[in-house]
Amino acid sequence: MLRPTALIPVIFGLAALVLTLLCIFAGSKPSFMQDYSIITLNTSRIGQNVFNTTASTNSDSNIFSQIWDNVTNSIESSINTDIHSFAKELGLHDFYSAHLLDYCEGYYTPTAVPNATLSKSDIGINVTACSNRTSFFHFDPTTALQRELNKTGTGITLEELHWPSAVNSGIRALRIAQKAAFLLYCISAGLIILATAFSLLSFFVHGRLSAFVDILLWTLAFFAALLASAITTAVAVKAAHVVNEHGRDVGVTAKRGGKFTALTWVATGLCGLNVFVWVFECLRGKRRRNGESFVGRVEK
Ligand SMILES: *[C@@H]1O[C@H](CO)[C@@H](O)[C@H](O)[C@H]1NC(C)=O
Ligand SMILES: *[C@@H]1O[C@H](CO)[C@@H](O)[C@H](O)[C@H]1NC(C)=O
Ligand SMILES: *[C@@H]1O[C@H](CO)[C@@H](O)[C@H](O)[C@H]1NC(C)=O
Ligand SMILES: *[C@@H]1O[C@H](CO)[C@@H](O)[C@H](O)[C@H]1NC(C)=O
Ligand SMILES: *[C@@H]1O[C@H](CO)[C@@H](O)[C@H](O)[C@H]1NC(C)=O
Repeated sequence: MLRPTALIPVIFGLAALVLTLLCIFAGSKPSFMQDYSIITLNTSRIGQNVFNTTASTNSDSNIFSQIWDNVTNSIESSINTDIHSFAKELGLHDFYSAHLLDYCEGYYTPTAVPNATLSKSDIGINVTACSNRTSFFHFDPTTALQRELNKTGTGITLEELHWPSAVNSGIRALRIAQKAAFLLYCISAGLIILATAFSLLSFFVHGRLSAFVDILLWTLAFFAALLASAITTAVAVKAAHVVNEHGRDVGVTAKRGGKFTALTWVATGLCGLNVFVWVFECLRGKRRRNGESFVGRVEK
């Protein structure tokens, strides 16, 4: 006799597997699911305080004149004519988005800053490149930005742009958590595959033992997914907080990726539902058996 209820966990399991794999591979190529970043740094206004001559604080003017010789005149005139990407002028990109396996960079289109006719929702992203895919990747914006500044050959350093050291240390503290998240997504995907396969088996094999094994496997998968989701959410919240707290003064902001969060929590929810389905199935089997034995006794 087949067990039709077992098909629900199989379907949910396949969906959870797809979502988990998408979490892992989202943003791994410039053309693949770029909206699904864990966190995005908006650096389009980086250095605005340094290059703002009207804000003439004495300590800045020295650095300003130092940098001044190296950079094209366009930046100063930019501030006055209100250009929107200082980053581009400096050889940086408008945004850097972190994913599980890499980070990507690009420019906002048509411009980075909304104006009277251009609302924030009309601003799109144009991803130009992604870093190499690495397992156990961790996002290090300081190194990424400095590497790009070095490429321009102007000799400008991040310190001169007043890149806050609190951002460095804050993000470095999340290194381990980011690597652990990758491991947990892999474990979670593995457990989901196993649990889905076992659920499929239970479609053919009746009995409470198989239901118990299913409960066990889905509980493990659920906790792995829960932990992975919790860690990536915590990393995103913490990193966004650190960057927004210390980076806003130098024109850098961060935004955590709502779509990634939705993806990972839906996958977790599906695993949780599967635990419920099997618990229900197990209880139902018990009641049926009790009922049968009762009927049996009555017939005797
Ligand atoms: C430059 O500094 C002035 C004074 O602090 C401020 O009003 C202005 O908004 C700044 N401009 C930019 C582009 O940041
Ligand atoms: C990027 O940051 C700047 C300055 O912090 C802000 O004005 C702009 O709206 C942001 N752009 C996007 C697309 O988030
Ligand atoms: C807003 O930005 C867009 C794109 O750069 C530009 O075409 C438009 O003229 C701007 N509008 C205003 C009012 O500045
Ligand atoms: C995206 O950037 C590339 C390279 O900078 C450019 O060729 C392309 O036209 C841009 N696309 C849009 C939609 O702006
Ligand atoms: C990325 O990979 C390519 C080829 O494997 C290599 O040449 C390049 O140096 C790598 N880039 C980084 C930043 O590691």
